Amino acid sequence: MSLAEKLDLYSKEYWDFRNSKNEGIHKIANYPAPMVAPMQHELLQLLVNENPNYHNMLDPFHGTGVTLVEGQEIGLEVFGIDINPYAHIISLAKLEKYNPDEIKQANTNMLNRIELLKNDGSYERYSFDNISKWFRDDVIESLSIIRAAIEQEQNRKNRRYYWLCFGEIVKKYSNTRTSTFKLHVKEAEKIEEMENHIYRDFKKKIEETYILIGYPPVGKFELKCGDSNSIMTELEKESFDIICTSPPYGDNGTTVTYGQFSTLQLLWIDSNDFKYDNSCIDNYSKIDSLSLGGTLSRNNAFYCSPLLSDYIEKISPHKRKKIMQFYSDYENSFRSMVRLLKINGSMVLTLGNRKVDGIEFPFTQINADIAQHYGLKVEYVITRNILNKRMPRKVSRLSDGQSVSSMSKETTLLLKKES
Ligand SMILES: C[S@@+](CC[C@H](N)C(=O)[O-])C[C@H]1O[C@@H](n2cnc3c(N)ncnc32)[C@H](O)[C@@H]1O
Repeated sequence: MSLAEKLDLYSKEYWDFRNSKNEGIHKIANYPAPMVAPMQHELLQLLVNENPNYHNMLDPFHGTGVTLVEGQEIGLEVFGIDINPYAHIISLAKLEKYNPDEIKQANTNMLNRIELLKNDGSYERYSFDNISKWFRDDVIESLSIIRAAIEQEQNRKNRRYYWLCFGEIVKKYSNTRTSTFKLHVKEAEKIEEMENHIYRDFKKKIEETYILIGYPPVGKFELKCGDSNSIMTELEKESFDIICTSPPYGDNGTTVTYGQFSTLQLLWIDSNDFKYDNSCIDNYSKIDSLSLGGTLSRNNAFYCSPLLSDYIEKISPHKRKKIMQFYSDYENSFRSMVRLLKINGSMVLTLGNRKVDGIEFPFTQINADIAQHYGLKVEYVITRNILNKRMPRKVSRLSDGQSVSSMSKETTLLLKKES
């Protein structure tokens, strides 16, 4: 039976994963728009069953690392890239794993150090530009004590574990609203009424997270934090059996502001314990502007899909530049992905069509068109209803006051490189 015939046996609703929640390892940290783990697992397993010689996989926009973890679970060597250091920190923890006995012991020492610092006051109050806009005074005090206690941990890998846990507590106790991924200060009243249970919450977080992550490590992995357009050009051609990803559906600034969502956490975390360039948090929107379609856009699209030209005609002239910037960056990535895929390799893209000004950007159809242009065969198309994705109904507001609606459906394209 061919892959398409096997997939035909599933009911349409099956892929909605109606009762699926973010569970286990995928629950350890919050990040916008995570993928549905059982779906990625099942698709990857089907591909590997079909092609038993497949042994490795690339996700060039790995986000919270769902596909990387699931790929590893079914025995693939995984390689991931993301420009956002917070996505890197979360995915690294999920892949590198932690020995429960070591963490249990380290936790006892960590909690003792926090108590000591609280009592003897031998820590420096941490600070960065505008800190008091985003954190209440007593919150800065408690977070500074935990930060100092993490810095005193001797083992670097353990420190990475604590930074991950700490990042979640930082976000929880910040003054930013939870209704949007953008940084936006809460009403003064809400900030005042927030109760400070930082030590209790941090203790709970460090005692629960490693259990969710599991142990021992499952297989080989490599993660790079940076622009996938640049990193992919450094990799050897035809080196991956599978490329499985959910790329951004539009520029981060007007679609999902992954960078703004992550910046407060990153301002507290010590980047020296990771391999990423700290300059990307120089301002709150820098990660988003470095991302696909941002201000660094290359504007060098090689293949211009006719579907893009048709779309551009329909939207107002001042919106065209942003769409073109995003397209040219994305087309560049697509070309790199094709170059990196082995002959007979599979590409799995999960995509959504966002609406700007009520006009749908046919990103899914554009992907199918680019794929065919570069000699990939569309083997199967799955369209699913998004029932549980953590997305505000309106994902962002544009500078001209218009909203971008979030999507209710997403499509997965299964592609094959034949020559
Ligand atoms: C849709 S999310 C990925 C969802 C992900 N598959 C998951 O499971 O959460 C897109 C990701 O692309 C990343 N990104 C955007 N532009 C990038 C670039 N130029 N290089 C690398 N990553 C980029 C964002 O930081 C974001 O994490």
